[in-house]
Amino acid sequence: MTYARIAGIGSFLPEKVVTNQDLETTMDTSDEWIRERTGIKRRHIAVDGETTSSMGLIAARRAMDSAGVGPDDIDLIVLGTATPDKIFPATACIIQRQLGVKGCPAFDVHAACSGFLYGLDLANRFIRTNGARTALVIGSETLSRITDWQDRGTAVLFGDGAGAVVLEASDEPGILATHIHADGEYEELLQVEQGVSVGFDVTRAGGAYIKMEGNAVFRRAVATFDNIARETVADLDGHLDDIDWFVPHQANMRIIKAAAKKLNMPMDRVVATVDEHANTSGASIPLALDVAIGDGPIQRRQTLLLAAFGAGFTWCSAMLRYGERASEPK
Ligand code: ACO
Repeated sequence: MTYARIAGIGSFLPEKVVTNQDLETTMDTSDEWIRERTGIKRRHIAVDGETTSSMGLIAARRAMDSAGVGPDDIDLIVLGTATPDKIFPATACIIQRQLGVKGCPAFDVHAACSGFLYGLDLANRFIRTNGARTALVIGSETLSRITDWQDRGTAVLFGDGAGAVVLEASDEPGILATHIHADGEYEELLQVEQGVSVGFDVTRAGGAYIKMEGNAVFRRAVATFDNIARETVADLDGHLDDIDWFVPHQANMRIIKAAAKKLNMPMDRVVATVDEHANTSGASIPLALDVAIGDGPIQRRQTLLLAAFGAGFTWCSAMLRYGERASEPK
């Protein structure tokens, strides 16, 4: 039986930091309000020239270095993003070229905040069915380019960044289970209304910006994290106590805390970086994972539950054992 395991991880954040105090100078908000309602203190924002591909490229290189693999080893590239560089080619292909990887499949997955985990699920399936042996899974986003910086209801929430993992074929299970879902019923609750097919109208009030029904998204996100965690654990005939670390999509500290409470999981077993990164959509889970692995506290052979929720709605989970073999990352 062939399994997939995480062999390396890397991430990248733009150097430019925008604090809540910076936002106080440009809109009617306060550091106190933002911290209280979201837990966010600051976010990294891409400057001119920094793109989804340029950030994803650096994260990918760091993940490859940490796995000890080169361009010739990579036989699949999947990028989760809602903010591609161009309409086409896929940003995964742009990164592929810059990495010097030749010939393997490379494509984007568009599942909003669930993009990285959707990509991880796909790459896991490729490896388990012997369609790939070493896959690069990236989440990279420039959400600042679809953020309405005049709208205090959304502008305070988002940031830019990228994270990546190298998945490698293994005799022992790293990834224990994945679950992947969507329900298009909720299209209107979280969306950017413009696009290629419906048309772009930059003069239209609001522009091509993220719009959301914050309260409804909040409730649905909390319920979904609870459901998918229980579904994943039950599928493995396990128990929530088996999870050493819960690594949820970093949307908002209140969502993370409410989900953890519902799951009866103490916050000291939950990875939260939303205070420093804000919501980076598809990049948030690999970014959080890289911080928690790089600086501690995640230890080798611990069991992690990753869970994402995003526009669509889409949601996805991955239960995995980190660093199973002797050639462990980092
Ligand atoms: N600063 C100050 N006041 C604000 C701000 C702000 N940045 N934004 C809104 N307010 C005001 C509102 O105008 C409102 O004022 P009013 O009472 O005078 O009308 C008041 O604060 C309360 O507004 P609510 O929208 O009810 O505030 P709420 O407590 O629901 O918090 C928030 C809003 C943070 C957006 C919350 O609904 C939320 O976290 N939703 C989840 C959405 C989310 O995280 N989305 C991310 C994308 S989805 C994903 O990643 C899964």
